[in-house]
Amino acid sequence: MNQARHILVGVAWPYANGEQHIGHIAGAYLPPDIFSRFQRMCGNHVLMVSGSDAHGTPITVRAEDEGVSPAEIVDRFHATFIDSYLKLGLTFDLFTHTDTQNHWNVTQDIFRTHLGSGYIYKDSQKQLYDANASRFLPDRYVEGYCPYCDYDEARGDQCDQCGRTYEAVELINPRSRITGNTNLEVRNTEHYFLDLSKLQEPLQVWLEDGKTHWRPNVIQFALSQVEQTELRGRPITRDMEWGVSIPLPNTAGKCIYVWYDAVIGYLSAAKEWAQLSDEAEHWRQWWDADTNPQARIYNFIGKDNIPFHAMMWPAMLIACQRLNLPYDVPANLHLNMYGRKFSKSRGHTISILNVLERYQADAWRYALTAIAPEANDVDFSWDDFVERVNNELVANWGNLVNRVLGFAYKRWQGVIPEPGPLSEKEQDLLEEVKAGFHSVGDLYDQVKLKAALQEARRLSQRTNQYLHDVAPWSTIKTDPQQAATSVYVALQVIDWLKILWAPILPHSSQQLHELLGYDGQLFGHQYTQTVKDSRGEHRVLRYDNSQAIGLWEPGTLAPGQALRQPAPLFVKLDKNVPEQEAVG
Ligand code: MF3
Ligand code: ZN
Repeated sequence: MNQARHILVGVAWPYANGEQHIGHIAGAYLPPDIFSRFQRMCGNHVLMVSGSDAHGTPITVRAEDEGVSPAEIVDRFHATFIDSYLKLGLTFDLFTHTDTQNHWNVTQDIFRTHLGSGYIYKDSQKQLYDANASRFLPDRYVEGYCPYCDYDEARGDQCDQCGRTYEAVELINPRSRITGNTNLEVRNTEHYFLDLSKLQEPLQVWLEDGKTHWRPNVIQFALSQVEQTELRGRPITRDMEWGVSIPLPNTAGKCIYVWYDAVIGYLSAAKEWAQLSDEAEHWRQWWDADTNPQARIYNFIGKDNIPFHAMMWPAMLIACQRLNLPYDVPANLHLNMYGRKFSKSRGHTISILNVLERYQADAWRYALTAIAPEANDVDFSWDDFVERVNNELVANWGNLVNRVLGFAYKRWQGVIPEPGPLSEKEQDLLEEVKAGFHSVGDLYDQVKLKAALQEARRLSQRTNQYLHDVAPWSTIKTDPQQAATSVYVALQVIDWLKILWAPILPHSSQQLHELLGYDGQLFGHQYTQTVKDSRGEHRVLRYDNSQAIGLWEPGTLAPGQALRQPAPLFVKLDKNVPEQEAVG
């Protein structure tokens, strides 16, 4: 095997201002878990980190709507994220949040570093001011027409339609979200700016260098911004209280902009993880370009986050020096539902936590990977969900396992039969499925998860075809030795497919592992923990991989090994599900 690599899997930090829906999960939360599980099975040192994004106007707008404190909103939704990740089996080495002392320290350190090396300057800026509320209107407190694409619900910092970022004063016909005021003033206010003009050149050099493995939409977006526009200073502070405070005197009433602090989370979480693991310097293996320039950093995000991860954050890292830059930014497009965007306020949504109560985690993992919005926006419908689960997952893979295990268990007294000499047909099947460790493996490695699923499905189908051809249930009457050979070969192949499927279907692969008579856990285990620091207490989700025995290699199934009493891996869904689940 190649030398083990350090792989940092950074997952977009979800705003803790609402429950996550299946579109979030398909876009940015499930893919990094599949990828991380695969990389760990290959023996790589994976650090998968994220946390709740606790700051910014998304949180304060919600808190004000409800009349509660921002901290209360953060705690509530942070808890729902942890619950759903436990249920779905998302193996975060650390899922924390950004309102921790560690995160504040790391953010303020980077701010000071940027300031000290001349990448941050202070300037006066024009901001929209709502006299009716006596407040400045940062980011989500203002809406208007996008200056680039004319979308009419563009927010103060970014347009949901074209993805571009800008300053609120550039919005056309801005209106206050607080009072509806359309008569906004433009007032001067002092802020700190990240000097992107100084970073344009190194950023462009980096983006133009060896990004052929990046998804075309991601690299094209970033390059077009950097090559065609002149980057200017961007304010990285705001006129609001809720956020990381600016580590400088005379900054009362202002704080650091949420996007500046949130991306720093990838670094601060690695440091928090290292401290919790009692190896305080261990984060360097992923981040420090002097310690380990071979480390690879992946950022799993949705398309709205592309400017921040393919430009802003890399620019911030360049300005820090000696930190590793992202190796890949596998951004997904949108999952819609019945042709429309998910929208909580319009009741057009499917909460992941809610549906995990009724359907198996692996069913969701399968269905959301089968329709992953890797290259296009994709549509979810309940009919499609039922069809994927019943006609693909159950019919193609679940039934294959059931049939073979049930037959072997019954006819060979619960042990794996001894095969006779293998015919060409058997050797061909074994070789083809064994080759899946390369074909499926390469696809996982390249974050082509939908294609990896399709290839695993093809190999499962190939095995169904083999069984259909050799029909051991008939042969057993005339040639029991041949039937034993066929069943042994099928079991061996199923044992390999179990591994090929495992990153997508970890729960059912573990169950199958046990049915095949093995002990031990293919993967490690998740747990939660409460951490105290000087900002208070926070609950974190963690993952311990130390006991995991799952390896990305074809093992040999031992004839004579005792099977366990077979039980179906998957629940077949009732065809009334779409009706029962009918959504607005
Ligand atoms: N909170 C942002 C969102 O939900 C994502 C932040 S990703 C980060 O869109 F890494 F920058 F935090
Ligand atoms: Zn736009």
